[in-house]
Amino acid sequence: MTRIIAIANQKGGVGKTTTAINLSHALARLGRKVLLIDMDPQGNAGRGVGIDINIQENTIYEILSKRLTPTQAITTTGFDGLDVIPANLRLAQFEAEHNGTFSPFLTLKKALAHLPKNHYDYIIVDCPPSLGLLCLNALVAADSVLIPVQCEYFAMEAVAAIISTVARVQHDMNPRLTIEGFLLTMYDQRTTLGTEIQSQVRKTFKENTFLTVVPRNQSISESQGRQEPVTTFRPTSQGASAYFALAREVIDHNEKR
Ligand SMILES: Nc1ncnc2c1ncn2[C@@H]1O[C@H](COP(=O)(O)OP(=O)(O)OP(=O)(O)O)[C@@H](O)[C@H]1O
Ligand SMILES: [Mg+2]
Repeated sequence: MTRIIAIANQKGGVGKTTTAINLSHALARLGRKVLLIDMDPQGNAGRGVGIDINIQENTIYEILSKRLTPTQAITTTGFDGLDVIPANLRLAQFEAEHNGTFSPFLTLKKALAHLPKNHYDYIIVDCPPSLGLLCLNALVAADSVLIPVQCEYFAMEAVAAIISTVARVQHDMNPRLTIEGFLLTMYDQRTTLGTEIQSQVRKTFKENTFLTVVPRNQSISESQGRQEPVTTFRPTSQGASAYFALAREVIDHNEKR
């Protein structure tokens, strides 16, 4: 069964895209067939797996606006087992075109229904930093949501907002949506703040918090400049190890039930 996981948090810069790219690639390295979908007009998820999004004609926008089927817009990456549907600035038009009374929350879900059944083991959807139409489309289409929590001030306030959106989506549109887990990101063990946020998150969300903690790691930022996952760029770095460990947790959670 394909498992669709949205990576969401309306707070900007908390590690959503980094997690989408590296979790996708790590799952593919562990033998799973993975489709990474970018739902953010910034387009960084596609860039991060080597796509030149500025010249890309087949994007998620063409799917949402029904100019292409998902199969037509899937692009292979240079990484075995990992395909991508990238985004670019054209995606911003989707929200603009639908700011009237009719809100098409089901568009992504309906489009994904056209994919060959169970061709992918995992579909990972990178959400933009807002709780608008694009993020809601992702949450309506998803089986679960993975919430990155940056070990920084105001982390918990941001988490409260995404949790209440998840509850609303569960209630109104997607009762099967679950929380895949909370993931601590950019953790710096030298600061007391990081330790405090970690214990606050673990106390609040208990076993819903991933055991894996992603450290702040320079190889991760460098890999993005090179437009490749850290899991290939420096596979033995602390950042890569964390994302491999996260992928194993996701596999344990979903495949061993
Ligand atoms: N573990 C890490 N170590 C070092 N740098 C990181 C780490 N995770 C993310 N970064 C860097 O932090 C910045 C923000 O990360 P990222 O783009 O993944 O966040 P985001 O939540 O997707 O942001 P946005 O809300 O804009 O979509 C990027 O420059 C990224 O390279
Ligand atoms: Mg992002």
